Amino acid sequence: MFEYTKLILFTSCLLIGQLRAQTDCGTCGNACCTMEFQVDQKSEDLTNLMKDNLMKGGQDGNYRFIKFLNLTNQERPSGVRYIIQAGHLGKSSNASLQFLIASNYSLTSTVRGFSISTLAKDLCDSGKNYMLMMDFVKNLAVDFKYKSLFGCSKTF
Ligand SMILES: *[C@@H]1O[C@H](CO)[C@@H](O)[C@H](O)[C@H]1NC(C)=O
Ligand SMILES: *[C@@H]1O[C@H](CO)[C@@H](O)[C@H](O)[C@H]1NC(C)=O
Ligand SMILES: *[C@@H]1O[C@H](CO)[C@@H](O)[C@H](O)[C@H]1NC(C)=O
Repeated sequence: MFEYTKLILFTSCLLIGQLRAQTDCGTCGNACCTMEFQVDQKSEDLTNLMKDNLMKGGQDGNYRFIKFLNLTNQERPSGVRYIIQAGHLGKSSNASLQFLIASNYSLTSTVRGFSISTLAKDLCDSGKNYMLMMDFVKNLAVDFKYKSLFGCSKTF
């Protein structure tokens, strides 16, 4: 059920059909999307790449870097190494983004990403939260696989 999908074509989520298919309605109290990405990068490099990208505003200039936590000295068995918090300020909608970066000292990392609409009028997000996750990771120009974990296309 939760098989990873390998991204082959660099397609934009702005394709209307895809957005409609990824519309979430209120799964997390408001619209949300939780994705998991398998990325061919060491966690330290990937974290720096994500931070830099957020500080530059991401692919549309509207992402905002908020906070970064380095947990590498805590030796968590699950391999959790970094937490990044961010936001996206759109013209008519805002979202709060959370990323967890995990790795067991390997050349690949697992990223768990969560996006939730923060304005009540966005109970149904037209695929926005899914798009914020996917387009952000695509913009990093790294090889990755992905899967949806929660929300992303559900209706409460
Ligand atoms: C996290 O902390 C470790 C240990 O201090 C350090 O080696 C590593 O470079 C830090 N990672 C990042 C992305 O800053
Ligand atoms: C999004 O958040 C920013 C910063 O808090 C705020 O200034 C802006 O009005 C919000 N956007 C909307 C559409 O409410
Ligand atoms: C790290 O290893 C632990 C124990 O085998 C496993 O549960 C966890 O999923 C691994 N984490 C990653 C990011 O591979």
